[in-house]
Amino acid sequence: MKKVALIFGVTGQDGSYLAELLLKKGYNVHGVKRRTSIPNTNRVDHIFDSINFSSKYFHLHHGDLSDSGSLYRIINKVNPDEIYNLAAQSHVKISFQIPEYTSDVNALGTLRILEIIRHYKRKKIKFYQASSSEMYGKSKPPQNEKTIFQPRSIYAVSKVFAYHSVVHYREAYNVHACNGILFNHESPRRGVNFVTKKIIQGLLRIKNKKQKILVLGNLYSKRDWGHARDYVDSMWKILNNKKPDDYVIATNKSYSVKDFTDIASKKIGFKIKWKGKGLKEVGVDSTTNKTIIRIDKKYFRETEVDNLIGDFKKAKKILNWKPKFSLNNLIDDMIKNEI
Ligand code: NAP
Ligand code: GDD
Repeated sequence: MKKVALIFGVTGQDGSYLAELLLKKGYNVHGVKRRTSIPNTNRVDHIFDSINFSSKYFHLHHGDLSDSGSLYRIINKVNPDEIYNLAAQSHVKISFQIPEYTSDVNALGTLRILEIIRHYKRKKIKFYQASSSEMYGKSKPPQNEKTIFQPRSIYAVSKVFAYHSVVHYREAYNVHACNGILFNHESPRRGVNFVTKKIIQGLLRIKNKKQKILVLGNLYSKRDWGHARDYVDSMWKILNNKKPDDYVIATNKSYSVKDFTDIASKKIGFKIKWKGKGLKEVGVDSTTNKTIIRIDKKYFRETEVDNLIGDFKKAKKILNWKPKFSLNNLIDDMIKNEI
C-alpha cells in the first residue's frame, strides 16, 4: 500500500520540491491550493496534469488555512498518513502590513489542523510544521533548539504560536507532531519579492538592459542561506524519525545581503564598487561607471533580525542530515535557471 501524504502550501517553493521528493519515494501525494484569480500552480504544473485536474499519484484540492471546514473536508477525504503544513503568509515585511491575516493563517491555521488530527479516529496522522529561524529574532547566533525565541515581527510571533501549539499537542494529546526550525532557504523557485531572488533577477535584467537599477533595503543583516532541495529532504527525515521532536535545519554559515550581492554580481559579470553610507550608499559598476544599486528605506523593516546562524548538530547526529549545497552552488543554480 502506498503511503499517503497531504501537503498544505504545495504551490509554494518548498511544497513543490517536497511533492517531487515524496512522489519519488513512492507516496500518493495530495496538495492543497487556494483559490486565486490567476493560476497559482506554475511550480507544480510539471507534475500535475492540469487538463484532468489529477495525475495518477498527484492530486490537488481547493482549501484555505483560514477555513476550518475545508481543512476538515480534505483531511477526511484524503485520510493521510502524513501532513506537512508549509502553508503560510510567508513574507516577513508584509506581515507588518497584514498582521491579523498573517496570524490567522500562520498561527490559527496550524491550530486548526492540529485540532482535526487530535480528534481523528481512522489512523494516527504524523504532522510536520514549517517553523522558522525568524522566531529567534533578537537572540544572538549561533541559534539551536535551546535558544530562546525573541520575535521581531508578527510573522515570527505567529510562527512561535504555531511552534508551541505543535509541542503542546505532542505532550498533551500524544500527537506525532514535529517542528522543523528551518533557516532561510532559497532556490530557482523562490518568490520574487525575497531578497536573493530579487538580487539575481535584478542583476540579470540590468545585464540584459531590461532594467536600469536594483533598489534594495538593509544590506547589513546576515542570513544563513541554504538550498530548498536540501531542506525538504530534512522535512521527511524529521517526520519519519521514530520519536517526534523539533530540529534546527541550517548550514551554520552566515553572509550579509551585501556579501550575497557581491558574490552574485561577480558571477553575472559586474565588478561592484560601493560608495556612500546609509540611505546614500550605492553600488557602481566599475566597467561602465554607472550606479546599478541604490537603497530605499521602504524596503527596511520597522524591526530587523540582524544575524542568523543555525547550529544543526542535533539534525546531523539524530537524522544524519547535512546540507549538500554551498552558498556558491545555490547562487550558481539560481543564476543558471534564471537565464
Ligand atoms: P511560499 O513560497 O510563500 O509558499 C507558501 C505556500 O502557502 C503557498 O503555496 C501559498 O499559496 C500557501 N498559502 C498562503 N496562504 C494560504 C492560505 N491562507 N491557505 C492555504 N495556503 C496558503 O513559502 P516557502 O518559502 O515555500 O516556505 C514554506 C513554509 O516554510 C512557510 O510556512 C514559511 O513560512 C516557512 N519557512 C520558510 C523558510 C524559507 O526560507 N523559505 C524558512 C523557514 C520557514 P499560493 O501559492 O497561492 O500563494
Ligand atoms: N525582501 C527583501 N527585499 N529583503 C531585503 C531587501 C529587499 O529589497 N533588501 C534587504 N533585505 C533584507 C531584509 O531586511 C532581511 O534582513 C533580509 O534581506 C532577508 O529578507 P527576505 O529575503 O525577505 O527573507 P527573511 O529573512 O525576512 O524571511 C525569510 O526567511 C525566514 C527564515 O528566517 C522567509 O522565507 C520567511 O518565510 C522565513 O521564515
